[in-house]
Amino acid sequence: MASQGLDETVTDSTDSVVRIDGVTKDFGSLRAVDDVTIPIEDGEFLTILGPSGAGKTTLLHMIAGFETPSDGEIYIDNEPVSDKPPNKRDIGLVFQSHALFPHMTVEENIAFPLKMRRENLENITEKVTDILELVRLPTDYVDKPVDDLSGGQQQRVAFARAIVYEPTLLLLDEPLSSLDKKLREEMRAELTRIHEETELTIVHVTHNQTEALSMADRIAVIRDGGLEQLAPVQELYAAPETPFVADFIGNTTLLYGTIIDRGEETSTVAIDDGTVRIPSGIGVDRSDVVIALRAEQVTLGPDSVNTVEGTLEQVSFEGDRTQYHVSVPAFGETIRLVTPNHGERIVHERGDTVTIGWDPEDAFVYPDE
Ligand SMILES: Nc1ncnc2c1ncn2[C@@H]1O[C@H](COP(=O)(O)OP(=O)(O)O)[C@@H](O)[C@H]1O
Ligand SMILES: [Mg+2]
Repeated sequence: MASQGLDETVTDSTDSVVRIDGVTKDFGSLRAVDDVTIPIEDGEFLTILGPSGAGKTTLLHMIAGFETPSDGEIYIDNEPVSDKPPNKRDIGLVFQSHALFPHMTVEENIAFPLKMRRENLENITEKVTDILELVRLPTDYVDKPVDDLSGGQQQRVAFARAIVYEPTLLLLDEPLSSLDKKLREEMRAELTRIHEETELTIVHVTHNQTEALSMADRIAVIRDGGLEQLAPVQELYAAPETPFVADFIGNTTLLYGTIIDRGEETSTVAIDDGTVRIPSGIGVDRSDVVIALRAEQVTLGPDSVNTVEGTLEQVSFEGDRTQYHVSVPAFGETIRLVTPNHGERIVHERGDTVTIGWDPEDAFVYPDE
């Protein structure tokens, strides 16, 4: 909605607790991070999302101080930090392997960063008790060796240890990826709660779009080291700016075509042996286009402006919804669609010929570059 105004305010460095400013990182001839600028606001939960190898961990390591940028600068509280070693940056960390001290107790693990900071013993006991409450571990767990805890409980200890000394910033690198699905969902909700209760600024890295969508305030999508789009979560989902973002987020089919006729309201795009309509005048000034179709925007039946016949390759009943893969010979593509279930029987099966469709304004259209 007010995205333009927001963009202007967040690029003002005085508003950001952390600012990644034109940062590049080269490993020899490999450019792992390419001129990335991300202002991070006080108290926000920012997720850096991208495929494996995109440069996410390298970015996080530069914020933490484990790597130095080849170019650009990182500011924390408006101070450049390139010359500051990791232990002077006041940052909490939780990585994929949570690296607790295995033979120490819960209390010894959590107290460790406080002892490093020479807190007095009384304060330490109080802070450990408070933080156990925050991460919802029983306080009589203090004397248990962390080895005796379950995976989920160890994860809670790792979060407690990372935030017990109230850092300016918490960095999370794929923190839930070693947990099984159910635990991962539970910890997602827990992280959201901990963020709300502490108002900590969190920078979180993941390749998992569901994790990003469910936890973040804003998402920065990175691809091959470069920033592809930075936006509040719902805006990113509703208005992906590039085919890469449209494809990476959501359940999306990409169709490649050429505009063959430009009309007043809609234009015609040829895709292989078929044609579809797209809205005219949406800033596409080239004739080669990419059309991104979200599965939930495609419907079964002949009632849309764009309709096409195909064969059901896959029907997957998933309780609250059904997913279909429809092979469309005219386009030489398989289109995905999903429909919500309200208790009715699924009448289609694999091999059936079906008509599917969507309206022009329900697809995203991009110039094909
Ligand atoms: N210390 C390093 N030396 C050389 N190449 C590295 C180093 N760290 C990362 N890379 C390379 O940089 C790219 C980005 O890696 P990384 O930041 O780990 O990606 P991600 O966390 O998004 O999976 C990859 O191609 C990786 O192989
Ligand atoms: Mg990584």
